[in-house]
Amino acid sequence: MTTSEEVRTKTNPELLTSDGQTYLVGEEIYLRPLVHADAEYASAWRDTDFPQAPERVRSWIDDDFKGGSNPYKATTHLIVRKRDDRPVGSVETAYQYFPTHWAMPFVDPLYGEQALRWKAEALTLVLPWVVDDQQRPKAIVTVPAHETIVIDALESIGARQTIRFREKLAMPGGGRGDELWYEYLDSQWIERLSDPAKVEIRRTGTGIARPVTAPVMPDGDPPVNAIRIGPRVYLRPPQKSDTEAVAHWSTREIDASWDNGRYPSGIENVQKWFNDFQKDIPPETVDFAVCLRETDEFIGLVGVMDVDYKHRFGESASMMLNPAYREAGYGTEAKHLLFDYMFNTLGFHSLQSWVMFENPRSAAALRKQGYRETGREHWVEFRDGNFVNFVAFDLLASDWRAMPRHDGDEYVGADTGSARPPKAANLKKGADHGTD
Ligand SMILES: CC(C)(COP(=O)(O)OP(=O)(O)OC[C@H]1O[C@@H](n2cnc3c(N)ncnc32)[C@H](O)[C@@H]1OP(=O)(O)O)[C@@H](O)C(=O)NCCC(=O)NCCS
Repeated sequence: MTTSEEVRTKTNPELLTSDGQTYLVGEEIYLRPLVHADAEYASAWRDTDFPQAPERVRSWIDDDFKGGSNPYKATTHLIVRKRDDRPVGSVETAYQYFPTHWAMPFVDPLYGEQALRWKAEALTLVLPWVVDDQQRPKAIVTVPAHETIVIDALESIGARQTIRFREKLAMPGGGRGDELWYEYLDSQWIERLSDPAKVEIRRTGTGIARPVTAPVMPDGDPPVNAIRIGPRVYLRPPQKSDTEAVAHWSTREIDASWDNGRYPSGIENVQKWFNDFQKDIPPETVDFAVCLRETDEFIGLVGVMDVDYKHRFGESASMMLNPAYREAGYGTEAKHLLFDYMFNTLGFHSLQSWVMFENPRSAAALRKQGYRETGREHWVEFRDGNFVNFVAFDLLASDWRAMPRHDGDEYVGADTGSARPPKAANLKKGADHGTD
């Protein structure tokens, strides 16, 4: 074998070959557990964009991987080339969110097209291993749309494409690529629960994207700490004084169907949540408090989670705390201020959003905001003796820029990204930005 001196001398050689292995073995590759000495080949199997010395990876294996990894829950297996037992990639499987089980493959791009062949073969081993061998209901994998070898292999084992996120990925060398989501569901679970792909999405609202309520420049001083100002609401950073309102409304929620159940929150938990997402720069979550211009009342939160600065996308979320402020267009106005921040300040390319089938109002609001339906994810959480399905949306910065702007009673042209926001006085305040 071509494994190094360290691997040969410090590890049981029988664990470093596919000889005698009865499963997870393909034509060209096999999968095996990670051993300490694999740190030497880390650039070939670790999915990171940053260089890391073998000794640093060794300490990751000792401190984080072994400590935090349960081989039956979330773990990493190496993809190893059969002919010489050389590590060429890895597949991480994560089982934290039953019934969803992720397979996250990585192959060394320096092997070119062969690497895609190995990735394809690894996935045809791993998905059936998770679902058929370990009896899990569902496994999921995401694939860049240009990896046709991998896609053909997935379809050959019966995996189904359920989502296409447009232009989500920044491609090496320039340009953008779509990301596809594939699900591999257990046929017996489908038989018992029926095929979730046949469940219809309940659609409410007009389904029509409405003109953007663009940010405005205030006539006088802006509200304290404001970052974006709209006709009726403004965005500012969430702060300590907001925590009471979040805790208060969490125990007065009237709708148990938008988040699969209600959760009372304590003030300290909310404070920790605010602190956590604001402490890192750049942050992984960008959240804003939504406040009424007229009274400065804090009425909700909008934000983006899992912010990805490399691919320049993230997942948007919104919540009006007091039910009295829902269904009146405040959420939509706040979202457009958020889009202006994400696309024009941070230069993001796209946003995605997820809504439970049971929450048609939120889906209607997204369509109204310009989001397009891009697919669905089945069996995400438990509900009513079955699992919940989610509808997925995406919004490209270019879609949003091309939407007409709402300027008082007039609809004006699309945003060029450079126009100065209109004066507040030019925008009619009040109900015209409601549920139209
Ligand atoms: C989701 C939310 C932020 C949307 O903001 P909003 O200001 O209420 O949304 P809007 O008033 O602009 O639009 C609501 C759309 O839903 C439709 N709608 C209103 N009430 C509805 C109801 N009870 N059921 C279904 N659809 C409804 C409206 O007709 C409108 O669509 P249309 O203008 O195309 O006709 C807000 O409703 C909310 O906070 N909901 C609870 C939290 C939540 O669901 N968060 C999102 C989790 S994915």
